[in-house]
Amino acid sequence: MEKQMLRACLGKLRDQYGLLECNVEADPKFEIGGILEKLGNTTPVLFNRVKGHKMPIIGGMFGDREMFYDFTGTTREERIFKYMNAVNRTIPPRLLSDGPVKENIITRNIDIGKIFPLPTFHELDSSSFITAGVMVVRDPDDGKIYTSIRRFQFNGGNNISALVTSPFLSDKIKQARAQKKNLEVAVVLGYDYYFCLASQLGSDLYGVDKYDYDGGLRGEPLDVVKCHTIDLEVPAYAEIVIEGVIPYNEEVTEGPFGELMGYYGSVAKHPVIRVSAVMHRNQPIFQISAPCKEEHLSNGLIRDIEVYAHVSRIVKVKDVNVTIGAGCRFHAVVSINKKSPGDGKAAAIAALGSSKDIKHVVIVDDDIDVFDPGDVEGAIAARVQASKDVFIIAGANGTGLDPSHLLEMTSDKVGIDATKPLGELGKGFEKARIPGYESIDLKKFFPNL
Ligand SMILES: Cc1cc2nc3c(=O)[nH]c(=O)nc-3n(C[C@H](O)[C@H](O)[C@H](O)COP(=O)(O)O)c2cc1C
Repeated sequence: MEKQMLRACLGKLRDQYGLLECNVEADPKFEIGGILEKLGNTTPVLFNRVKGHKMPIIGGMFGDREMFYDFTGTTREERIFKYMNAVNRTIPPRLLSDGPVKENIITRNIDIGKIFPLPTFHELDSSSFITAGVMVVRDPDDGKIYTSIRRFQFNGGNNISALVTSPFLSDKIKQARAQKKNLEVAVVLGYDYYFCLASQLGSDLYGVDKYDYDGGLRGEPLDVVKCHTIDLEVPAYAEIVIEGVIPYNEEVTEGPFGELMGYYGSVAKHPVIRVSAVMHRNQPIFQISAPCKEEHLSNGLIRDIEVYAHVSRIVKVKDVNVTIGAGCRFHAVVSINKKSPGDGKAAAIAALGSSKDIKHVVIVDDDIDVFDPGDVEGAIAARVQASKDVFIIAGANGTGLDPSHLLEMTSDKVGIDATKPLGELGKGFEKARIPGYESIDLKKFFPNL
């Protein structure tokens, strides 16, 4: 039985997570994205009848934290350590001579728009896009494999383009261009939660081979096979692999596209990928991620560990939530075990320093659940006096993914210390308890509940 990639997850998605199977024809133009959005982008859906295409689509797989923890063999309590420790306990991939992804190989007359049911999500999007593709490149300098999710605009025929904004890969592409060298790339679809998560580890910060990190996360080697037309290895059990090169001398206008926070992002020139081969399993399933919704949780899970690592140098951290409402980038809530009067503010500074993207940080005590917005709001309401507990740093660096950053190309940073005072003053902040609350079993009083 397969243990890796999308097909290895389907049984559990059906049995435990209510995978919805849509057998009514659905249109990849707006309708499929709209359905996922109506379902909150947290329900996995298999669209078996896609208008104009034979290939089914799966979406909504990556929007739920608990599902993510479960599929990566961890829990909310343990996940930060599991995801951090895997950086130091990497396992290299295992090369197989063949694998299901090679069941079909197309090298002639490639038209990506005809082969795949490419979705269009928003009214003003420039084209249809591959939104869940994991891009694989080998670093020409050190041979390490780097994976990352990028969006790929369809430009007709075998021409797609990649939006690359992270500094690491942008630099590698610039370097190849300066040396007049093409860069080989593969785009993987139909993967599992480990592969998705591994792709989100920041290369600038960690510099880890992401196949090795994937192995560290899953506790066994990632099974890979050789590509057909380029010198790269790809997951043997993936649904689909698109192979090609980024030519050093070709760029195309990319965007607009409904971005991270639901606004249209900027339009700019980005590298083209000339597709040389498509490999896919028999009866492949095309994977999509609804942009700016479910898709960014995997990135947020890595940001949780970055905030944790930064704040832990200052004070003991209980938990971190880089919240999905703010795109898993702009807001962090951190619960700490406060020991000194300045811990709350120092923790906020450390969290803001973990990434240029974070704008607003709330620090709470460890009796507050960082995943309960009501609990966090209650702490802000009852434990904060703004003149003392809120600070603003004006004009810092930020990210263009935040439309308000684009006004002056700077971002203000806000820290809110919502921790209670220590000692005598803190006594007035003790929460009123209901004795025996934990042992009340509502079923005893309402058997039909
Ligand atoms: C669903 C999803 C879509 C993403 N789309 C893009 C994208 O289009 N362009 C981009 O530069 N980063 C995108 N990202 C973020 C990168 O995948 C992420 O920052 C990754 O860690 C970068 O890896 P690197 O540090 O090796 O470059 C996306 C992330 C997710 C989860």
